[in-house]
Amino acid sequence: MYKINENYLKLPGSYLFSNIAKKVAAYTAANPDKSIIRLGIGDVTQPLAPAIIEALHSAVDEMAHAETFHGYAPDLGYEFLRSAMAENDYQALGCDISADEIFISDGAKCDSGNIQEIFGPDSKIAVCDPVYPVYVDTNVMAGRTGTYNPDTETWSDVIYMPCTEANNFAPELPKERPDIIYLCFPNNPTGAAVTTDELQKWVDYANKEGSVIIYDAAYEAYITEENIPHTIFQCEGARTCAIELRSFSKKAGFTGVRLGATVIPKDLKCGEVTLHSLWARRHGTKYNGAPYIVQKAGAAVYSEAGKVQIAEQIAYYQKNARTIFEGLKSAGYSVSGAVNSPYIWLKTPDKMTSWEFFDFLLEKANVVGTPGSGFGPSGEGYFRLTAFGTYENTIAALERIKNI
Ligand code: MLT
Repeated sequence: MYKINENYLKLPGSYLFSNIAKKVAAYTAANPDKSIIRLGIGDVTQPLAPAIIEALHSAVDEMAHAETFHGYAPDLGYEFLRSAMAENDYQALGCDISADEIFISDGAKCDSGNIQEIFGPDSKIAVCDPVYPVYVDTNVMAGRTGTYNPDTETWSDVIYMPCTEANNFAPELPKERPDIIYLCFPNNPTGAAVTTDELQKWVDYANKEGSVIIYDAAYEAYITEENIPHTIFQCEGARTCAIELRSFSKKAGFTGVRLGATVIPKDLKCGEVTLHSLWARRHGTKYNGAPYIVQKAGAAVYSEAGKVQIAEQIAYYQKNARTIFEGLKSAGYSVSGAVNSPYIWLKTPDKMTSWEFFDFLLEKANVVGTPGSGFGPSGEGYFRLTAFGTYENTIAALERIKNI
């Protein structure tokens, strides 16, 4: 008999957001008359900006004619998109990142799950707690974690860096040396951000210890404060210790379109080997690129019209974030996040566990959020709401929550 990858069997239950979807589907089936407001998974609700729609239409038309038809995309992505990203996301901020250090992909979820493949099987990972579950689960699948302890909800051989109220939801440098450090700022799920000076400490640490930082910048578009970095490459020395993940999902509403990028500076080396060359090899072997029409849509994000329209869309969600934050605060909830993030992180009332509060909110207010404990043990007693609903639903959800 053939053998399966038994590491998969170690994973407890199903993926967090699949779990929630199942629970909500069961509730809806049993209560078809209830109107549910979904502020759980960070999925956007606003339509794609007109500049993006225009780019999609015109790219589709190009595909209809032999002279302008496009087949396989180049391994690393189309030059027009990589250059637009290099200029706008990096060089405009004074960061030394060139187009050929950017790998276009179909989204940051895949990249954040796949990137671990280029590291040794014995590499030790460090993650924030709470954390986006993909970083940990994909390392479990790869056999890089030990055993799961259901009591502590942690894996042996994984370094957890608690992010709690006591440290303002910003992790402290680990006591034990990790090989790979996953950081996400502004953070999913807590919505916390770190300043450039704080992030610099991580870059210095990684360079000193010979660790690599995988920096998830999926939420950078939501930053409102001055001293918060939009990319890890705003820190000195990041070119020799960091990989950055970028997403178009939250920045431009591409959750259903799919587009992302991984940035690997050519100075990032393990001995003589550049990680850029490994990721290029992987891309070439396992990936045929994001579709031409989608990459064209991505380039429209950086057009003059696109920039203005996208800024309006982000402002719309930021207003939702502020509304939830202020509304819950005035209702007596302890809340954080929201300022530089589309996520609002609240303490569950009356010492309810995260899942108890999930059920309570679903049943009493017909509002769906995400239980903090689903992101790790330090998330217990917390709950995440997203700002990605419509403004009307955001107001309605807030009223319902206040009234229970
Ligand atoms: C989330 O809700 O945490 C995110 O939407 C999940 C994702 O981006 O994959």
